[in-house]
Amino acid sequence: MKIGIVGTGMVGSSAGYAMALMGVGTEIVLVDANPALARAQAQDIAHGTPFAKTVAIRAGGYDDLKGAAVVVIAAGVSQKPGESRLALLERNVAVFRSVIGGVMAAAPETILLIATNPVDVMTFAAQRISGLPAERVIGSGTILDTARMRSLLGDHLGIAPTSIHAYVLGEHGDSEVPVWSSAMAGSVPIVSFAEQIGRPLDQAARQSIADQVRGAAYTIIEGKGATWYGIGAGLARIVRAIIGDERAVLSVSQVNPDIEGISDVPLSLPRIVGAEGVIANLMPDLDAGERAALKQSAEVISGFSSKLGF
Ligand code: LAC
Repeated sequence: MKIGIVGTGMVGSSAGYAMALMGVGTEIVLVDANPALARAQAQDIAHGTPFAKTVAIRAGGYDDLKGAAVVVIAAGVSQKPGESRLALLERNVAVFRSVIGGVMAAAPETILLIATNPVDVMTFAAQRISGLPAERVIGSGTILDTARMRSLLGDHLGIAPTSIHAYVLGEHGDSEVPVWSSAMAGSVPIVSFAEQIGRPLDQAARQSIADQVRGAAYTIIEGKGATWYGIGAGLARIVRAIIGDERAVLSVSQVNPDIEGISDVPLSLPRIVGAEGVIANLMPDLDAGERAALKQSAEVISGFSSKLGF
């Protein structure tokens, strides 16, 4: 299966590298406004594949995206230290107006996977510009936040993050909503499990984990200028679910017809992801505080997406 990646900076190239090492797809085409960069990234990643899986990776133009099952859009500018994701909006919508047109001309049947921040609003813009149905325009959303929450909970509880079922919903950003009320370790409610093993998850511990998840990108950006490995692996995970028709439950972003009375708002919920894109959406049971926080997150995002003029 062919996968396209448009925008081969650190995020796009890390996604390509993760896909190559994971053996996701059989052909990866890298496209960038700077063809020399795309060529160099493709060569560098290709030199690693003999140690991993056999995936053909090459640079190309938009025409080379023809027949791609998924096209990852990672083109645009990234956050500066201390800058919020929403501050990137106008610059990146302008980039999308040219990029999405080129992709759709070459691969009108593809599924778009949006990585560019602010990813929820950019997912909305990509859906409007492309005209694809909402379920075929997926944003990476809170897949990374959910992974960060599970990783920190695994550290706290001393268990594998893969045994933790907890989600971060809403904006991939400052208004995101970690959902504790339905979080499970195995089949045990996570707060009860923590008590049982003597590693309590009291309000202070839960708040600390939530703060670390919400602040993770800012911390990393302070240290290295940007993030790329975590999101690259998250993008590869989503692509794997699509091309393998896995029907995996992943917290990803999509334009939702209605969230707590707010219409056409792009944000993350747990969704079943397969070959057709998003196959179904799962609204977890939320307590009153979580429902209010999700509504507040929807209002924040809608405050930006509704003003784009689409
Ligand atoms: C982060 C970027 C992908 O959270 O927004 O690392």
